[in-house]
Amino acid sequence: MRGIDLAIDLGTANTCVFAEGAGIVVNEPSIVAFNTQKSRVEAVGHAAREMLGRTPPHIRAVRPLRDGVIADFDACEAMLKHFVRMALPGFKAWMRPRMVIGVPSEITQVERRAVRDSAIRARASDVHLVDEPIAAAIGVGMPVGEPVGNMIVDIGGGTTDIAVISLSGVVYSRSLRVGGDAMDEAIILHCKRRHKLLIGERTAEAVKRGIGSAMPLGTPTRMEVKGRHLVEGVP
Ligand SMILES: Nc1ncnc2c1ncn2[C@@H]1O[C@H](COP(=O)(O)OP(=O)(O)OP(=O)(O)O)[C@@H](O)[C@H]1O
Ligand SMILES: [Mg+2]
Repeated sequence: MRGIDLAIDLGTANTCVFAEGAGIVVNEPSIVAFNTQKSRVEAVGHAAREMLGRTPPHIRAVRPLRDGVIADFDACEAMLKHFVRMALPGFKAWMRPRMVIGVPSEITQVERRAVRDSAIRARASDVHLVDEPIAAAIGVGMPVGEPVGNMIVDIGGGTTDIAVISLSGVVYSRSLRVGGDAMDEAIILHCKRRHKLLIGERTAEAVKRGIGSAMPLGTPTRMEVKGRHLVEGVP
């Protein structure tokens, strides 16, 4: 017995898990909070995100992925284990689900290996890696199997994948290691330089989502944010 098969989108910002017959059962931020005093995992996903930027010294919140690839192997393994348990209610130690995992189209063999090993440690019996652009194209209902070129652009947290797909294969692709995270960092830097204000990742993302625009807007938009003043050191 291997249990139910799982499809996993292991993202820099968010991880989704699809379980056979049940649909998307996990959609959580890719964040793990470690308790360094007790050397154990304190929280994963939404719960860990709440801790970001406001953790006591003995809690370390980490993002296991950077730029679309695994940056912290132990954290990634802990996160995957947690999400697999969430995805399979009544998880038993003998369960060995097969896993399909999406990876950016341009990653190295070593990076692919890391994803595979991480899944095996999270109790996968068999791991199949798919190009993320193909998975995304199928997800939005593009006719991927036809002999016509379809372009897909997937802007994630850490990577932007652009691919032309035809006959169920990637004809051409580029994966840029920039995405939403880089925009958040730019907002943090802007607040630091222009307003001498230190804001956290979550605030920066809220600004991006709230008033950000891909097109130039006629009138400037404003938003009030809270942070710490760099010179005076007070909120
Ligand atoms: N409405 C929105 N406007 C602007 N940015 C958004 C919006 N919604 C989500 N984002 C940004 O999209 C990014 C997350 O996208 P997604 O979940 O696809 O990334 P990911 O798959 O985890 O990352 P990657 O594919 O790079 O590994 C975050 O940077 C988030 O701030
Ligand atoms: Mg993604």
